[in-house]
Amino acid sequence: MKALVLAGGKGTRLRPLTHTSAKQLVPVANKPVLYYGLEALRDAGITSVGIIIGDTGQEVRDAVGDGSRFGLEVTYIPQDAPLGLAHCVLIAKEFLAEEPFVMYLGDNFLVGGISDLVDAFRRADHDAQILLTRVAEPQFYGVAELGSGGEIIRLEEKPEHPRSDLAIVGVYIFSPAIHDAVKAITPSARGELEITDAITWLIDNGFRVHSHMVSGYWKDTGRLQDILECNRIVLEQVEPEVNGSVDGLSEVTGRVIIEQGAVVENSVLRGPIVVGANTKITSAYLGPFTSIGSDCVVANAEIEYSIVLDGSSVVGVSRLARSLIGRNVEVTSAAGTPNTHELMVGDHSKIKVRA
Ligand code: G1P
Repeated sequence: MKALVLAGGKGTRLRPLTHTSAKQLVPVANKPVLYYGLEALRDAGITSVGIIIGDTGQEVRDAVGDGSRFGLEVTYIPQDAPLGLAHCVLIAKEFLAEEPFVMYLGDNFLVGGISDLVDAFRRADHDAQILLTRVAEPQFYGVAELGSGGEIIRLEEKPEHPRSDLAIVGVYIFSPAIHDAVKAITPSARGELEITDAITWLIDNGFRVHSHMVSGYWKDTGRLQDILECNRIVLEQVEPEVNGSVDGLSEVTGRVIIEQGAVVENSVLRGPIVVGANTKITSAYLGPFTSIGSDCVVANAEIEYSIVLDGSSVVGVSRLARSLIGRNVEVTSAAGTPNTHELMVGDHSKIKVRA
């Protein structure tokens, strides 16, 4: 079995970070979301992985390389424009050949891996296997309607009036029958070849499509609140490890990882937290569910339930919460001007300041 990992797309809901960076590389507990998926594929016994890349392709190539670091053999497949998930299958035909494959959306986060799903597909005689999970806002996903026997009656892509709360998770397994399906369908109203339509084509043409409920935690990390939530879930399970230095004036409790070269002075860290390599935390408070990248500075500041990417500094500011701070960002206090906020913010940023 092979895998097709989708790491193109624009990531509009995570702008401005995704102006310069691939949405699949936003870190969760200091590790890009995409890496969790690649590790899940490897753990399921898959080695041959095609990665679809778009505008941010170079960054994905730099991050993943030839895949050997993950125990994978990676082939990159460039997509000229984001023309849909089924279009990705279309352009990967040569790579996929006549083998079954897992299609994994690179911004999806699934706790518990996919080994059981891959095994189940290998044992069964299905043409496609999809994963479903109950969500609060099904209108933002592909939605499945099931019959009384659990069979799929209908699949709809982001319906205005969803017929159920069962969202289609971005991890699919297909037999080569999908190649006929992606050739047969036409673009949707949003101009994309939808994988949901291709699966519907399989059902309509008598192929066996099986659905499976996700038992563990799943998130599409396309939005800020979802990334923060994933970060919380991963941090809750990390093993504490101090490889940097913590002075006697500091108080570190709970699950806290302090990476190599990081320095914590006169600070309170209430885990779960990860502090990246060579980051300096001075006279600060870090609260639960916070990931600070490498080469950052946090001084005279308070941060909780947030993600700060590499090379950024937060100085003299309290308290940041529910925040995602990009790379090489400076957040400081506007000294001497207590009633003003001074901002230089990128396009499509979102700032919430205290009223
Ligand atoms: C895609 C699929 C959708 C699925 C979702 C899961 O949507 O089209 O059916 O529910 O992934 O993440 P996208 O996030 O690409 O809009």
